[in-house]
Amino acid sequence: MPCASEGGNITPHTLGDCSDQEIARAIRGGTGCDGTRLFPVMPYFFFRAMSDDDTAAVVAYLRTLEPIENDLATTEIAEEVWATIPQLPPLTEPVSAPDPSDPVAYGGYLATVGLCVECHTPLSPAGAPIQELSFAGGRILAGPWGTVATANLTTDVTGIPYYDEPTFKEVMRTCKVGARELNHLMPCEFYKGLTDDDLSALYAFLRSIPPVAHSVSNVDEPTPCPLCGGTHGLGERNPAPAEP
Ligand code: HEC
Repeated sequence: MPCASEGGNITPHTLGDCSDQEIARAIRGGTGCDGTRLFPVMPYFFFRAMSDDDTAAVVAYLRTLEPIENDLATTEIAEEVWATIPQLPPLTEPVSAPDPSDPVAYGGYLATVGLCVECHTPLSPAGAPIQELSFAGGRILAGPWGTVATANLTTDVTGIPYYDEPTFKEVMRTCKVGARELNHLMPCEFYKGLTDDDLSALYAFLRSIPPVAHSVSNVDEPTPCPLCGGTHGLGERNPAPAEP
């Protein structure tokens, strides 16, 4: 029998009867408040790192939303698909965030719970993030604004070595790189409210990660990329990965 996964409505209309712990378990553990497994398009593998305090704040915020009566269809996911998805054990230890006085560590935390790493890492054909290409872009996203590849955020020449901190903040707040407006699939609307300190931490973290060569562009015709296996602008420039 296929397992069910409830999609979507996270207003008090759906969550009203759930305890704080049940909502936290949905965010960080992938089990819905009614006990069903959640499909990982809801990115709980990344939210897993969210601190107890931040999770409690998110739950408190959700409770302030207007209840919206919008009952959504149950998603049917085949057993064979569930079998490929690891089930997370319950969190038994307290989870804390790194101290913001350590910008690199705190920025890494923000890049995880803020999902930068999720979008900016390409996926293998099986749908798993390619670890060697973390933050090196090339994940293909399709939406109402077209199909684009995410950018390489590392300091390699194929990434964004020329960024300085003010440029980074401006891009995150305006969604423009110079005169070029970024596709809305880069969700700047959600990030432009980040504090100056949080953006400084994200920048410090991005500068600290090892450079990874991966040419990706959204202004050139998409071509097959031997490195990530996807099809994106400048794909042909990337050599196939070296044999281990
Ligand atoms: C939902 C997916 C998604 C998430 C989450 C996301 N990005 Fe992006 N990002 C994109 C896409 C797609 C582009 C390329 C847009 C384009 O070229 O028009 C992009 C482009 C960028 C660029 C521009 C790079 C350049 O070309 O100069 C920066 C900087 C960036 N992202 C930083 C971040 C940071 C930092 C985070 C986390 C706080 C983040 N992104 C989260 C999808 C995402």
